[in-house]
Formats: sequence, C-alpha cells, structure tokens
Amino acid sequence: MNVIWARAIVSIVLLAILCAAVGAFLGLKVALGLAVVLLIVQSFFGTFHKQRLWRLLDAPVYGEVPSAPGIWGEIYYRLHKLAKRWHAQVRQVEQQHSRFIQAIQASPNGVAMLDDHDQIEWCNAISEVHFGLDAKRDLRQHITHLVRQPDFVRYLNSHNYEQMLIMRGMGVKRQNVLSVQVFPYGENRKLVLSQDITELERTDAMRRDFVANVSHELKTPLTVLSGFLETMRELPLDESERHRYLELMSQQATRMQHIVSDLLVLATLEGDNRPPSDRLIDMRSVLAHLQEDADNLSSGRHTITFDSDERVTVTGAETEILSALGNLVTNAIRYTPDGGSIHVSWHDVNGQATFSVKDSGLGIPAADIPRLTERFYRVDRSRSRDTGGTGLGLAIVKHVLQRHDAQLDVKSEEGRGSTFTVRFSAARTARRQAAPA
Ligand SMILES: Nc1ncnc2c1ncn2[C@@H]1O[C@H](COP(=O)(O)OP(=O)(O)O)[C@@H](O)[C@H]1O
Ligand SMILES: [Mg+2]
Repeated sequence: MNVIWARAIVSIVLLAILCAAVGAFLGLKVALGLAVVLLIVQSFFGTFHKQRLWRLLDAPVYGEVPSAPGIWGEIYYRLHKLAKRWHAQVRQVEQQHSRFIQAIQASPNGVAMLDDHDQIEWCNAISEVHFGLDAKRDLRQHITHLVRQPDFVRYLNSHNYEQMLIMRGMGVKRQNVLSVQVFPYGENRKLVLSQDITELERTDAMRRDFVANVSHELKTPLTVLSGFLETMRELPLDESERHRYLELMSQQATRMQHIVSDLLVLATLEGDNRPPSDRLIDMRSVLAHLQEDADNLSSGRHTITFDSDERVTVTGAETEILSALGNLVTNAIRYTPDGGSIHVSWHDVNGQATFSVKDSGLGIPAADIPRLTERFYRVDRSRSRDTGGTGLGLAIVKHVLQRHDAQLDVKSEEGRGSTFTVRFSAARTARRQAAPA
C-alpha cells in the first residue's frame, strides 16, 4: 500500500472519528454539516493544487519548488527532484555533444554530414574551406547544389565509394587538390571526408622531376663515354688518338663524379641535424681557403680582390659554410670572362655578418634569378657544362644557408655582372677579439 492510499485512509478515519465525536455531543445534523464543510475545504485545497501543478507543467520554472503542506508538498518535491535529474542528464549529453563537435573541428580533415537526401546536416570548418561552404547558410542545402563539379556529383550518385575521388582546382584560388571519400552510415546518411593533398602532390611531382633530371644529367656523359668505348674497341687508333679519347672519357667520368658527389652532399644536408649554434667558425681560415681556391681556378685570368673584417664570424658548421661561400666565388669566376674582376667582401652590416661576391661577368636575366637555386637549373646549359658545373651548386648553397639562418640575395644585370649577397641572422653573428697582426 503506498503513501497516498495510507494518507487517504487515515484522513477518512480521522474525519469519521471527528464527526462521530461531534455527533455524540452536538447531534447528527451538526456532525453532517461539519463533514460537508470539511469535504468542501479539502476539495478546494485539492483543486487549487491541481491547478497550480497544471500551470507548473505547462510552463516549468526550473529550480522553483512550490511549498505546500502534506501530500502536495511531497509531490512538488518529487517533481523537482525528477526535473533536477533530467536536467543533469541533458547537460551531460550536451557536454558530450560539444566535446564531440570540438574533436571533429580539431581534425585536420574536412568532415561533412549528409542526411538521407544528401542535404548538409553539419560540416566542420575545414570542410567549409575545402568546398567553399558556409555551415550556417548552407544548412539543409543539397550538397550537389553547392559542390557542382561533375566528377563529384557522379561520384556521390554512383553509390560506390570504395575508391576516393581526387578533385583539382579547389579552394579560394582554385589551385588546391582534395582527396574526397564518402562513408555511408546510419539510415542512408553519408559522411564526406576530405583531405587537402596539394602539398603532397607537389612534393610527389618534385620527386618525379628530380629523378628524371638526375637520370637525364647522368645519361649524357654516360652516352658519350660508351660511344668512345665503342670507337676504341672497333677502330684501330694510333697512340695520340688513343690518348685524346682517354682524355675525353676521363672528362665525362669526372663530370659524373661531380654530379654524384653534389647529390650526396645535398642528401647529407637534407638528412643532417641542424648545425651547431654555439661553435664559432674560424673565418680567417675560411677566407684564406676561398682566396687560395679562387686564385687557383682563375689562374690570373681575373682581378680578384678580398676585403674582409676577420673579427666578424658566425656559428655553425665550418665545412658547410666553406662549401657554400666557395660555390659563390667559383661561380663568379666561371661566369666572368677573362679580364673581368671579382670582389669578395665579409663585414658586419647592422649586426648581421654579410658575405658578398660581386663580379663583372655575364649577368643573369631577371626572369632566371628566382629559379637559380633549383636543382639542375642553369641559365646557359652549355656554358655551365663547359665550366664543369653540375647545376647543383646554388641548390647546395640554399640548403646550407637555410640551415644557418642566412638569406641569399641576388642582384644582376645581363652583360654587366652579378652580386650574390649572404646575410646571416644576428643570432648567428659573433665578433672575435682583434686578431694579432
Ligand atoms: N656569378 C654568376 N654570374 C652569372 N651566372 C651565374 C652566376 N652564378 C650562377 N649563375 C647561373 O646560375 C646557374 C646555377 O648555378 P649553380 O647552381 O652553381 O650551377 P652550375 O653548376 O651550373 O654552376 C649557373 O648555371 C649559371 O647559369
Ligand atoms: Mg656553380
């Protein structure tokens, strides 16, 4: 038996006892009158609270507990407890939902949810960028009305989503490449996942180009070499001819060696840790080396001058710096006709160690300047080859400088000469005490 029945029976029994007592002392009529009055009062009380409960259920005010005596107070209190429990549950679900949304928003991939009519139910910020959508504005829009590429429409309608779809010309600048895949779920709903693979495609293309370039670069000397070998095997040659052929073959072999050794240098630079930031380079020795190599290469064909402040130095890997700066000096000599001049300087300019090589050589057309540091890029192929170039020198320079927080600046005028300037960051620049004379 529950509380309500128990209370009802108790109040009926009390009422009966009260009426019987009143009846015994004041007569039956008074007792009946009293019973009627009490019943009316109770009915009013009940009706009042039913009305109040009705209103409360119609427009609940959370946290407000109406007070009432007896069973009504109990009912209000229990309702309040129930509401509190539900409210806590709803809040928990809301928090889970918002964490879930935050997690999908944090994903580096685009996520769009479609309903059973392929209308957008929700999409994250990355998906907005990928497809040019607006999560609020485009809600409930048919996705193919917004993403109209025929490939995408065909893919979505094909209902075969095993493969992903590659979409080109996407993004604001229409230059991005997306990989898109649809995953069906629930009742005819779809998840559209998208990933920006522009960079991946670019590096892939670069790798392909690089392999093609290396093969091409090695193929030429190899063809020449095997041609000579063939000739030497087939034809009777006198001593001087034999000597000349061997000389030419040796040149081709050296060329291949240079290419391979430059490629190895590049590979090492790419794989190595950053050069030390606390080891001072002995610039006196580096500059002395540069000068000696320059004089040897030019063998008096150019006027070469050095102007340097040997107290200025930088931190890093000495062999790398020597090879990078050496490349610039060698280029200046190679691309400057006999009789020209080359001026090398090393100074502290506004707190930055600055190396520059100025030559009075061939110069470089403006359009070629931005591409000089690409691997195997040469302005004039035959000239580079004649001077023993591999087309990798400036690519090595770029790598070394990047690793040493330095910038390369190229100024050039065709037919008048070029200036290659290297500026090290202030953080890498240091100053030694004046060297003893
Ligand atoms: N000082 C310079 N004057 C004119 N052209 C230059 C100079 N330095 C570099 N170049 C051009 O830049 C190209 C790339 O240089 P680099 O990477 O060192 O390759 P290479 O092995 O051909 O010297 C060269 O082929 C040349 O055309
Ligand atoms: Mg070079």
